[in-house]
Amino acid sequence: MYEGDVASVLITEQQISDKIQELAKQVAADHPARDGGSDLLLVGVLKGAVMFMTDMARALPVPVQLEFMAVSSYGSSTSSSGVVRILKDLDRDIAGKNVVIIEDIVDSGLTLSWLLKNLASRRPASLEVCALLRKPDAVKVDVPVKYIGFDIPNEFVVGYGLDYAERYRDLPYIGTLDPKVYSS
Ligand code: XMP
Ligand code: MG
Repeated sequence: MYEGDVASVLITEQQISDKIQELAKQVAADHPARDGGSDLLLVGVLKGAVMFMTDMARALPVPVQLEFMAVSSYGSSTSSSGVVRILKDLDRDIAGKNVVIIEDIVDSGLTLSWLLKNLASRRPASLEVCALLRKPDAVKVDVPVKYIGFDIPNEFVVGYGLDYAERYRDLPYIGTLDPKVYSS
């Protein structure tokens, strides 16, 4: 599949799956299932976090509920401006809930920073971020990400939910693309 388009595999399917087990343990340790307590609420950011969200939900040993949000940042397709627009909002009120945002990647941090402020204003009982990837060299605003999968170089990556022009989300690993893909 996508033969010749992928330049390198940065994180394998096995590494992703091992990391998700680790992250799930960390999240569960901080959010033990409580008698009569409310379930943990995962808020997945569409579309990039879809694979990560469904794998995390199944790896977590505590009951979780799933909500999705879709946002778009104004700016070019490969860099964000920090001005964010809600394309799809949550279906439910999150007041009083223990919320973990599930995000694919923290690049400049601008999108997440905006999202955190937006969700915090809805008064959840707790609000944390779990991101699969982070590009430390691209960070423009410091965002408190409690759970982080992998720090990666400042390169555009695809796969496992991440796309280039809506393609490659279905790759089971994280990789970089051959420059010819961008020029064609
Ligand atoms: P910021 O810069 O606001 O960006 O942290 C976060 C959003 O930008 C997208 N993004 C990427 N998408 N490969 C992608 O497919 C990348 O390397 C990449 N870097 C940033 C992504 O939607 C993320 O939520
Ligand atoms: Mg995203």
